[in-house]
Amino acid sequence: MTSHPKTHALMARGAEFLGSEHAIMCGAMSWVSERNLVSAISNAGGFGVIACGAMTPELLDAEIAATRSMTDKPFGVNLITMHPQIMDLIDVCAKHAVTHVVLAGGLPPKGSVEAIKAGNSRNGGAKVICFAPTLALAKKLLRSGADAMVIEGMEAGGHIGPVSTSVLAQEFLPELSADHLVFVAGGIGRGEAIAGYLEMGAVGVQLGTRFAAATESIAHPDFKKAFFRAGARDAVASVQVDARLPVIPVRALKNKGTEAFTTKQREVAGLLDGEGIAMSEAQLQIEHYWAGALRRAVIDGDIENGSLMAGQSVGMVKKEEPVADIIASLLDESEAALTRR
Ligand SMILES: Cc1cc2nc3c(=O)[nH]c(=O)nc-3n(C[C@H](O)[C@H](O)[C@H](O)COP(=O)(O)O)c2cc1C
Repeated sequence: MTSHPKTHALMARGAEFLGSEHAIMCGAMSWVSERNLVSAISNAGGFGVIACGAMTPELLDAEIAATRSMTDKPFGVNLITMHPQIMDLIDVCAKHAVTHVVLAGGLPPKGSVEAIKAGNSRNGGAKVICFAPTLALAKKLLRSGADAMVIEGMEAGGHIGPVSTSVLAQEFLPELSADHLVFVAGGIGRGEAIAGYLEMGAVGVQLGTRFAAATESIAHPDFKKAFFRAGARDAVASVQVDARLPVIPVRALKNKGTEAFTTKQREVAGLLDGEGIAMSEAQLQIEHYWAGALRRAVIDGDIENGSLMAGQSVGMVKKEEPVADIIASLLDESEAALTRR
């Protein structure tokens, strides 16, 4: 028996796919989504996802093993498609019989989806979850083997696209939800919103910001305090200063670091002008800038100069709470909303 029958009925396909009790994923967050938070989410009935980020295959190997020692529930691994060792990382996931691999950060490189699904003799392959910025691309990815999609609106924390969650949901769900598994992410702070997306055909949701400052998150206390103080309008998208730099905007709490990012872009654009660097190097410098800045904020607690990646739902993060309590409130709110209908 479940105490949230209406919510669980709408989440049934998503929960079956993930192998979790609730179809609530905690989106991978670089530096934050490591063994402690991931295992806590999965142990609470949600679905945790390790953020591989820029980790080497050796580091990912150790992180998966440590997470497995802390939970016997399923969890996923998020790989960034432009990681230079992506195929080795896929091998590491297969070695540990990881059941779900999430591919983020762009189009999956050739052969990667096939390699994940083929797996090895031990795991018989993993399921592939992809992000798609447009409906056409979502259909293409599903045709080429993706098992489920996440649509993520610009309200989210971290790297974002230009379209809001509510518009993406209206575009994608009516077309895809009958035959495919679609999870909705970006700007979800309360269960009423979850109920709405489930009713529109989503099989589950993904949240990041609500979980980043949870008790089990290893984020520095000052990083968490910045979340508790912030309102929705403090989580701003970075500005692209030069059309040649294909900078994916990042949503983060504004601070000296967000200003420094604008300066960094000008610097790199200047180098491009003088042909001091190649375009690929310019892109890499921008990406490395963020990885370092996020670590400074999350791990070192440098909330002035580091990157405080956060979504607009940060205004609904008011105190440190165990993930089990956050999940319970989301489910209660969703169920109450569905019951009122
Ligand atoms: C601090 C932070 C770091 C993130 N890092 C990543 C990442 O490394 N890879 C990724 O695919 N998404 C990343 N995200 C996005 C989350 O996985 C998730 O999709 C997003 O937070 C959902 O929207 P919400 O913040 O509105 O809940 C990050 C988000 C935050 C807040």
